[in-house]
Amino acid sequence: MKKETDIKMIAKTIFGLEEVLSLELKRLGAKDIEVHNRAVSFKGDLGFLYKTNLCLRTALRVLVPFKKFKVRDEKSLYEAIQDINWEDFIDVTDTIAIDTVLSTGLFAHSQYISQKAKDAIVDQFRAKYGERPSVDLEKPTIRIHLHIKDDTCTVALDSSGESLHKRGYRDKTNLAPINEVLAAGMVLLTGWDKRSTFIDPMCGSGTILIEAALIANNIPAGYFREDFGFERWKKFLPYDEELWNVIFDAAVDKITNHEQKILGGELSPNVAKKAKENIKHAKVDDIVSIKNCDMKDFEVPEGRGVVVINPPYGERMVKDNIEELYKMMGDTFKKNFAGYDCWILSSNMEAFKHVGLRPSRKIALFNGQLECRFMKFEMYSGTKKIHKLNKGMDGMEDLK
Ligand SMILES: C[S@@+](CC[C@H](N)C(=O)[O-])C[C@H]1O[C@@H](n2cnc3c(N)ncnc32)[C@H](O)[C@@H]1O
Repeated sequence: MKKETDIKMIAKTIFGLEEVLSLELKRLGAKDIEVHNRAVSFKGDLGFLYKTNLCLRTALRVLVPFKKFKVRDEKSLYEAIQDINWEDFIDVTDTIAIDTVLSTGLFAHSQYISQKAKDAIVDQFRAKYGERPSVDLEKPTIRIHLHIKDDTCTVALDSSGESLHKRGYRDKTNLAPINEVLAAGMVLLTGWDKRSTFIDPMCGSGTILIEAALIANNIPAGYFREDFGFERWKKFLPYDEELWNVIFDAAVDKITNHEQKILGGELSPNVAKKAKENIKHAKVDDIVSIKNCDMKDFEVPEGRGVVVINPPYGERMVKDNIEELYKMMGDTFKKNFAGYDCWILSSNMEAFKHVGLRPSRKIALFNGQLECRFMKFEMYSGTKKIHKLNKGMDGMEDLK
């Protein structure tokens, strides 16, 4: 396949971030974009495949589907996988890993299906050479992705390798760090203009602040990653190091060095310390600063800005305390955050009521298994009219 040929790709994401991802893809120059449930499909050349892995902030992985067939049972799956000529992808000395996602009543266990598909592949080599490729779950030559929806199986190569939320900048974590893809998606959903003040007053390990800083200065999401799956591809879309270097250098050239205010607060001294270390590790300590303080004492710069909070949801707290915490957030917004668009992500719908403010937007998002709402509370300074005039936010307002 020539490197300019259009390749069909699928970027997978978190429920609720599909539109943001499709907008990111549009901006990067993707063709034929289609939005699906937790995924967006598109087309682009080999360089674009590399670019999406490096630059997309809201994709978990980028797949290249190459075969689709009907399945009825294990036997028909085994046969269809054997029908693929795996020598087009690997040699006998190479390694494989298989991930399966099931959305069907035909099979119950995804790991079992991965096992069956692995058997079909290795049996093909063994029959011909008496030897077989081995399994490497960490860094295989190719990572194969099977998606079985109803009676249709799509076979894809996973170009990302490890999930793209593993940015490579996280050094220390606290107990509940938010997924980096979700954090970036939340920042993009707010429509932040990248220049006004950005605050996370309950910053934990600092993920939302770091993602905001990367966004503000066009630092590619995958800038710190040491490894992508496509770097090990040898036969199908073989790794083109020269092309990768061109793509990487072009993205790095777009990095800016603006001095905006990205501020974090955190109640726990230990967690605040970890956040500072993470921020240093991500090399954004020149624009992000952290204070060890209670949100209600956080010093808020005058003017306008965006606040994003991923507070405790209350699983490990007594009811009264969680209600008090959400009431404190609402009271503090009113008292100290005039001019700011304040956003809270939580799965605790009861606690949301104690914020005591009417949200102007509610977006459904999943944080892991937890169904959440990302709610916006606009704290006006002056008249609504002035506020609206001030609002243009970097094209993300088409998402509002
Ligand atoms: C769910 S965690 C945030 C996780 C964070 N988004 C991350 O990626 O690591 C909530 C954080 O809020 C902090 N917190 C709780 N009450 C607070 C308060 N009143 N003021 C400031 N921080 C608070 C907790 O210590 C905890 O680290």
